[in-house]
Amino acid sequence: MTFAAKQCRIVRGGRVVLPSGTTATDVVIEGERIAAIEAYGSARAEYVIDAGERLVLPGLVDSHVHTRDPGQTDKEDFRSASCAAARGGITTMMAMPNTVPLIDSAAAFDLAARAGEKSIVDFALQALAHPSSIENIEALAARGAVSFELFLGGGPQTLITRDRAVQSALFAAVAGVGGIMGVYPDDSELVALLDCGGDAQAIAHAHPAEIEAGALLGAVVLAASKGCCVHVRQVSAALTAMVIAKLRRHGARLTAEVTPHHLLLTMDDFERFGPEGLIMPPLRGASDVEALWKALAAGDIATIGSDHAPHHRDEKNAGRCDLRKAPPGFPGLETFLPAVLTQWRRRGLTDQAFVRAVSQTPANLFGVSDRKGTIAVGRHADLVIVDDAVDEAIDCNKFLSKAKYSPFHGRRVTARVDLTMVRGEVVYADGAVDTHAQRGRLLRRNRN
Ligand code: DOR
Repeated sequence: MTFAAKQCRIVRGGRVVLPSGTTATDVVIEGERIAAIEAYGSARAEYVIDAGERLVLPGLVDSHVHTRDPGQTDKEDFRSASCAAARGGITTMMAMPNTVPLIDSAAAFDLAARAGEKSIVDFALQALAHPSSIENIEALAARGAVSFELFLGGGPQTLITRDRAVQSALFAAVAGVGGIMGVYPDDSELVALLDCGGDAQAIAHAHPAEIEAGALLGAVVLAASKGCCVHVRQVSAALTAMVIAKLRRHGARLTAEVTPHHLLLTMDDFERFGPEGLIMPPLRGASDVEALWKALAAGDIATIGSDHAPHHRDEKNAGRCDLRKAPPGFPGLETFLPAVLTQWRRRGLTDQAFVRAVSQTPANLFGVSDRKGTIAVGRHADLVIVDDAVDEAIDCNKFLSKAKYSPFHGRRVTARVDLTMVRGEVVYADGAVDTHAQRGRLLRRNRN
């Protein structure tokens, strides 16, 4: 298939993943949107993309992407991140606010939105919840921030809000604009007290699951008192999953996210890959992985986000002898779909549950479900064709991200993205990005 098929008005598939089931159907596109879903083989158009027996999914909505743009474009920028996203079947990137400058004001939001004009997939911006942004919550919401992000640890001090009274005021302000608060549950003070060395075991020791679970409890109490919805970021441990399940049973307005690496990798991978496998929270044990899959199946964890967090290889290499000298994080946009869908199949889970976790629910939670997340009439024609009968190894040398390393390198997968379409335009096909692709569009949170 080539980019000549860009004018395609029909995607014909034997296995199109609709909310009601996976079915043979013609998806008819007019302009940027899906105009009709018709009987297989019945629609007529000059260009038809025939997906055959490959899977046709709604484009992934990745609500956890560190684009590094503006400010650290040597590590990544909207162009390279979005090319990686397109290669990974991600048609909406939601950018995290730890850019330079931080997204904590309307001016910083506008700067990041301008940086996003380089994107070839659609994007949204998440704003920082912090003392520096407390007066700006209404302005940021008015500009379309899809979430606010409260860091309780896990990053530089400039990101973290420790003061409980300020946290409480931030929850009140976010509730006031009908927003959602992403919370990174951590406690940098406790982590510092537990510091005992720079090997993988010592890093694990300094970041026990109890810190994640404990930090979450405090935040949920404050959020509940202000009527604020919380989305827990990157849940990594069985203990946290259990606490989330209990809180949800008690009526907390709480949803949770897990990352592909916490679902698929363990401490063994961390030890094997060293600094290239270092991320926060750290990779954990096999029993944690099992608990996260159970929580996902039970709906206590609702979304999967890549936590794409690229750094220079040189910076990573600085942690060879002492992991504390390397920045945590690795790229994830290009491994997300192939690696997770492979395991999804092995566990016998449904296509519909996959789409809910990677597209539909994030689109709902972050206020873009009127446009994104589902193959349905009226939604953007964001479609991905996936061959889920391949057998190949992930190769980080092929990454379109600027960061060409990954603890998924060499892992065998049975799924590969063959084509990605954003609002009716093919931006990636058969291993190549269309460099003439239209610019991605800023998506604003629908506040209704
Ligand atoms: O390991 C991480 N790195 N975890 C995060 O949450 C942030 C990220 C980064 O920005 O590098």
